[in-house]
Amino acid sequence: MRARPDLLPRRQRSRTGIDVEDLQGNLLRGYTHESGAYVFVRVADAVLGRAWLHGLMPGVTSAEPWDEMPPDTLNLAFTFAGLAALGVPAPMLATFPEDFRDGMAARADLLGDRGDSAPSRWEPGLGTGDAHVLVSLYGIDDAALERARARLQESLDAAGGAVEVVHEQRSKVLPEGHDHFGFKDGIAQPAIEGSGAEPRPGDGLPNEGGGWRSLAAGEFVLGCRDQDGGFPIAPAPPFDRHSTFVVYRKMRMHPERLRTYLGSFPGEDPARLAAKMVGRWQDGTPLVASPHGPDPAIAGDPQRVNDFRYCDDPAGMACPVGAHVRRANPRDHDGFFGGKLSDRHRIIRRGRAYGPPLPDGAVEDDGVDRGLIFKCYQADIERQFEVIQSRWVDDGDPFGVGDDRDPIIGYHQNGGGRMVVQGSRPVVLGRLPNFVTVRGGEYLVRPGLRALRWLAAPM
Ligand code: HEM
Repeated sequence: MRARPDLLPRRQRSRTGIDVEDLQGNLLRGYTHESGAYVFVRVADAVLGRAWLHGLMPGVTSAEPWDEMPPDTLNLAFTFAGLAALGVPAPMLATFPEDFRDGMAARADLLGDRGDSAPSRWEPGLGTGDAHVLVSLYGIDDAALERARARLQESLDAAGGAVEVVHEQRSKVLPEGHDHFGFKDGIAQPAIEGSGAEPRPGDGLPNEGGGWRSLAAGEFVLGCRDQDGGFPIAPAPPFDRHSTFVVYRKMRMHPERLRTYLGSFPGEDPARLAAKMVGRWQDGTPLVASPHGPDPAIAGDPQRVNDFRYCDDPAGMACPVGAHVRRANPRDHDGFFGGKLSDRHRIIRRGRAYGPPLPDGAVEDDGVDRGLIFKCYQADIERQFEVIQSRWVDDGDPFGVGDDRDPIIGYHQNGGGRMVVQGSRPVVLGRLPNFVTVRGGEYLVRPGLRALRWLAAPM
């Protein structure tokens, strides 16, 4: 497995303001390494914690392009409690945005994390204030990942108890990049000005007269100009340049519930109903482009797989207005003024599957933990992730579907969710159970390398 991402000139300050030597990797282009580990640690001593960070610095992966994919990567992000534990002074801490200072657990009501998904039920180490630093490791295979993990362990051991692991999660790409519900994931991403990646139709913002344009880098990277033409609100230097905010959310998926549910409609094709819930066929074909079935010619063509607009399907006859992808990025859906009301709410998704697949045909809960480590990057968690999650996933009003939540990832109280599949013969999907349970999460900042060096310097 060898990939050669599109090459980007070392410094592209002139047009976009992105310095790829200072930006951490995985934001402009996703890593294609197949194995991952997310290691959350708690820092008990600021001085020793900084020394530990200092030791990790040479291994941090930047956004500089590589000719050959490295066998493993390492990146660092910090919670608000983590910055405090590392001795960042209080006046500086106060310059960070409120959403980040609160953390994900404190925002549970807003996010719709209730019942089984409530923070009181989360896995140990997440949402408690104990997770301070997230060390994200990826390896080209399990062996490469284990080598990287062993190196990390050596550094932790050398810190002599000043830094301890409080939560750890592995991830592994599933065959053909599908998720545990069988859908190809990671297709749609915002095209970013100056990223060096060739924008695909559909990745950016719809132009009025047709075609697409890329998003300003400042929607994702602090210190760059954003869609308003100004600079995103940023904390004090050195965190004001090349930082991004991270949402980490462990989402357990229940494919057995989805299979059982889809099989309970006599005369309906389960694959069709599932596609209506998601907005794409399992192979990634968008319903707007091909409403009657998957089309390998579209799914396999990067120029076509994301090239669709909801103005071509205003009533949701192809892609229901309540479908996951339509809510998560309404594009030019009616009421979003040709994309003007959705363009400030985009996220870069870098999620990974975890856990082994449920065997084909199984409809019983085998008790195995599997799902998605949802991870996204943005300049402003409140404006970007939280708007998507709280107003579009957890509420149907913007789409005219009342209390109906996202059918696939929404929290459905007492198994009472609902979705209307528009059509000449509309189908009401009632009694939707929870197909996903949130198992924990954190809001983090991922500083640029200059800021990392500042954080790792002796106090
Ligand atoms: C277990 C949880 C989840 C599953 C199984 C899931 C599944 C999917 C699938 C299959 C797609 C279509 C493929 C693609 O375009 O990449 C998709 C797209 C997307 N999802 Fe999710 N997702 C989950 C959680 C979330 C969450 C928590 C958010 C944000 C709050 C989110 C936001 C998005 C966005 C923005 C898109 C792209 C839409 C577009 O631009 O057309 N997803 N998801």
